Amino acid sequence: MSTTSTPSTFDLRPELKDRHRRMWALGDYAAVADQVIPALGRVVADATGASPGHRVLDVAAGSGNASLPAARAGADVVALDLTPELLTIGERAAADEGLAITWRQGDAESLPFQDAEFDAVMSCVGVMFAPDHQRCAEEMLRVLRPGGTLTLASWTPEGFVGQMFAAMKPYVPAPPAGFQPPPLWGTEAHVRGLLGDRVEDVHATRARLPVGAFADAGQFLDFFRARYGPTVAAYAGLAQTPDRAAALDADLLALARDHDLGGGRMEWEYLLVTARRR
Ligand SMILES: C[S@@+](CC[C@H](N)C(=O)[O-])C[C@H]1O[C@@H](n2cnc3c(N)ncnc32)[C@H](O)[C@@H]1O
Repeated sequence: MSTTSTPSTFDLRPELKDRHRRMWALGDYAAVADQVIPALGRVVADATGASPGHRVLDVAAGSGNASLPAARAGADVVALDLTPELLTIGERAAADEGLAITWRQGDAESLPFQDAEFDAVMSCVGVMFAPDHQRCAEEMLRVLRPGGTLTLASWTPEGFVGQMFAAMKPYVPAPPAGFQPPPLWGTEAHVRGLLGDRVEDVHATRARLPVGAFADAGQFLDFFRARYGPTVAAYAGLAQTPDRAAALDADLLALARDHDLGGGRMEWEYLLVTARRR
């Protein structure tokens, strides 16, 4: 993995970014990607039109949930993420399959690439977690060549993951000034506003990801308490207040039960946006 970056990469609120990096390294996010949402990575890689000769940037790639299928389709993929621990896991998985992906630590708010370097830019429930949405949108469009495609999958505010963040909100410290709520990226009007007239052929579709990884709500809670960075961090902050931790347990269990379609099966709603850079 390359850890070199342009000098500006970590100028943007480095303490906040360091906190985010440490949060995403908590637990075992790669297990979430591999066991819970691998199908979403394939959806994003397919919608991107990843194919041989295509130079694709995966922003906030994590352990490569979308990068790996894009590389399997023959694309020349660069996977960028804030969290080197996740890139290292992806790098190992790619090596096991003989896939040549470039793994690069960096910040979605200041991409360490030249203008118009990529044929396609994609992000699978990734860029939505960077604080400054407008800045990220401008950066993704800057590095995309005219005529190139942008593909974004983001959890909607109304869907299961959006509701999970809403449920955790009373239990975690307020976000710092300027931090925009991630599920806003799951709102079509917000994304259209961010992309503005720099894109054409914009398509936005709400879809539901089938999730069959859990037998019941309790298994979901155990898995997310142990493995999903934001949830692990929320519970770590409640270590001295067991009553509040128990209340969060109850709220998350109730949410998971509400979304249980039978036998633990769930559907997690996301917004898929594709757009072409003018
Ligand atoms: C929910 S994970 C998604 C990872 C991957 N795209 C997937 O589909 O599994 C969110 C990712 O966003 C990354 N991230 C958060 N803030 C970021 C930033 N400012 N720049 C780049 N990556 C960031 C985290 O490190 C984490 O890997």
